Amino acid sequence: MQVNFLGKNLISPTVLASGILGNNFDILQRVHASGCGLVTMKSIGPTPRDGHNNPTVIDLGHGMINAVGLPSPGYLHMEKEWADLNNRDFPIVASIYGASVDEFQQVADYVSDKKPDFIELNISCPNSEKHGMLFGTSPTASFDVVNAVKKVVKTTPLIAKLTPQALDIGEIAKACEDGGADAICAINTLGPGMLIDIESRTPILDFKKGGLSGPMIRPVAVRCVYDIFKATRLPIIGLGGITTGADAIEMIMAGATLAGVGSAVTYRGISVFKKITREMDQWLKDHGCTLEDIRGAAH
Ligand SMILES: Cc1cc2nc3c(=O)[nH]c(=O)nc-3n(C[C@H](O)[C@H](O)[C@H](O)COP(=O)(O)O)c2cc1C
Repeated sequence: MQVNFLGKNLISPTVLASGILGNNFDILQRVHASGCGLVTMKSIGPTPRDGHNNPTVIDLGHGMINAVGLPSPGYLHMEKEWADLNNRDFPIVASIYGASVDEFQQVADYVSDKKPDFIELNISCPNSEKHGMLFGTSPTASFDVVNAVKKVVKTTPLIAKLTPQALDIGEIAKACEDGGADAICAINTLGPGMLIDIESRTPILDFKKGGLSGPMIRPVAVRCVYDIFKATRLPIIGLGGITTGADAIEMIMAGATLAGVGSAVTYRGISVFKKITREMDQWLKDHGCTLEDIRGAAH
């Protein structure tokens, strides 16, 4: 099921979410070969960062809680990854983060020279002391960071990745649009949340708090995409809890152009992209319509 996104033809409307399968070329290529239309890299930061200590990810069955903590080699230490990715025959999104507008600009400037198809600004991570959410909960800060990055990257289309913690996510999306974003991705993990081991009476995650993902956050993601669709003209990657073709159809009806998949890679394996696309295709055939017919249909 071919789909066009900001002028690129994708083999399917599915997107690998950032941070799920790292930045290794062989794995990202396998994801594409498994039917994924657009492959997002793990977020890349300004300096080397270890991330948090284990345990960092806990599966609750109906979703996960994680505090991986944005581990990154830092943008200056990825020459092998970039060299491999240079020979790719599939579209990628390079996800970046920073703790200040300057850091975002610095990373974006360098990364855009590596010619990813898109750059995603992670202004929404709840699992780090000072990155991301700081920007994504304020319309002014969101505008400032997108606008500053737009000035340095010029031609690489920008995707702003938003947090469901924003009081009014539509307002944040509009601020990103005004700042020069070409698309929105929503949502990052929900939270932070916490689990406590009642025998030891201590939080289970080493970082104590973590972001929620998977099926349990889908209704929040659907509502966020619905609000963003109302507030902007930008194409949306709808992400959060999508596990089946029916979930993806629901997200398209809320207003998404593409369906992002993160935790479901764990639940249904790497072939989840082919499975979801096939299930979407079947639903559309059964109902005699196209993706365009149902985009935003819930409005
Ligand atoms: C283990 C893990 C690591 C993640 N790392 C990142 C990351 O580096 N950058 C980012 O923007 N989002 C990251 N996310 C968030 C996902 O990209 C996605 O927004 C979120 O999991 C919701 O989608 P899902 O319910 O399909 O998993 C991570 C999620 C998980 C579960």
